[in-house]
Amino acid sequence: METPYQPIAGTVERSIRVSEKERLFSVIPSDPTLLKYRPGQFYMVGLPGYGEAPISITSGPGEALIELCVRAVGNLTNALHSLRKGDKIWLRGPFGRGFDLEELEGKDLVFVAGGIGIVPMRSLLKAVLGRREKFGRLTLIYGSRSPDELLFSEEMDGWRAAGMDVKLTVDRAEPLWKGNVGVVTTLIPKVEVAQKNTVGVIIGPPVMYRFVILSLNAKGLGPEDIFVSLERRMKCGLGKCGHCQINSLYICQCGPVFRMSELKGMVEAI
Ligand SMILES: Cc1cc2nc3c(=O)[nH]c(=O)nc-3n(C[C@H](O)[C@H](O)[C@H](O)COP(=O)(O)OP(=O)(O)OC[C@H]3O[C@@H](n4cnc5c(N)ncnc54)[C@H](O)[C@@H]3O)c2cc1C
Ligand code: FES
Repeated sequence: METPYQPIAGTVERSIRVSEKERLFSVIPSDPTLLKYRPGQFYMVGLPGYGEAPISITSGPGEALIELCVRAVGNLTNALHSLRKGDKIWLRGPFGRGFDLEELEGKDLVFVAGGIGIVPMRSLLKAVLGRREKFGRLTLIYGSRSPDELLFSEEMDGWRAAGMDVKLTVDRAEPLWKGNVGVVTTLIPKVEVAQKNTVGVIIGPPVMYRFVILSLNAKGLGPEDIFVSLERRMKCGLGKCGHCQINSLYICQCGPVFRMSELKGMVEAI
């Protein structure tokens, strides 16, 4: 990349509606170096005339296409939803500090995702399942408001077959739903946790973090054993504008992935 401010064109190869509000895009970047990323990183995704927004990478490292899952909430994201095969999309990045898989090797991993938090989590899950033998017990707890808002549910049998225990929950019961009803924290007590060898990873809406952290604490996980990915308004994506700043940290550059122990004393972070 010549300058990190210069957007690079990508071509939409596929655009699939995956729920009422989300579309999954597969993008071929014109510069293949954009395919070198870690789970947890994001691109600033833009369209001329509509601006830019941070969007997490949901594909796994090493894949030939970049996958982005976008929830339509406003100006840019609604415009992105109108893109179809062959259309151009503009990317800067990958930005931010993602997950370091080597730090997680040898551990039992408990992934807790809420809502659209499954989007960046999927990249991490794919990376971990791609080297399954390097990790201990794997558990995913994923919750959404209703069954039709659960994303990637068609992939979950594959994740189970690859050796991950997948536990789903929804806030609102519906007649055909046979699974758990309640927030994600209702499932955490049911997870077997080997103290001193378990790491928790949390990605979801801000309201979820405090309660999930408390539940994981009750299982014996401390600030060194818990990773979170934080969302803040961003403009530049690379530590220049200050939009995403919390105390001395730029979330775009120092994060969005943090070990909880790095956020000690930062009340605003969670
Ligand atoms: C690191 C990071 C990764 C993200 N990954 C994804 C992703 O993978 N998929 C996805 O769909 N979205 C993701 N988001 C959120 C996405 O960036 C915002 O939804 C987007 O900026 C909205 O832009 P817009 O122009 O469509 O909406 P706007 O027209 O700017 O705003 C529409 C509404 O959304 C609210 N809003 C705008 N930005 C944010 C924000 N950052 N957080 C909360 N509310 C916001 C506004 O207050 C307004 O109510 C991510 C955000 C961050 C910080
Ligand atoms: S978005 Fe500009 S400093 Fe983080």
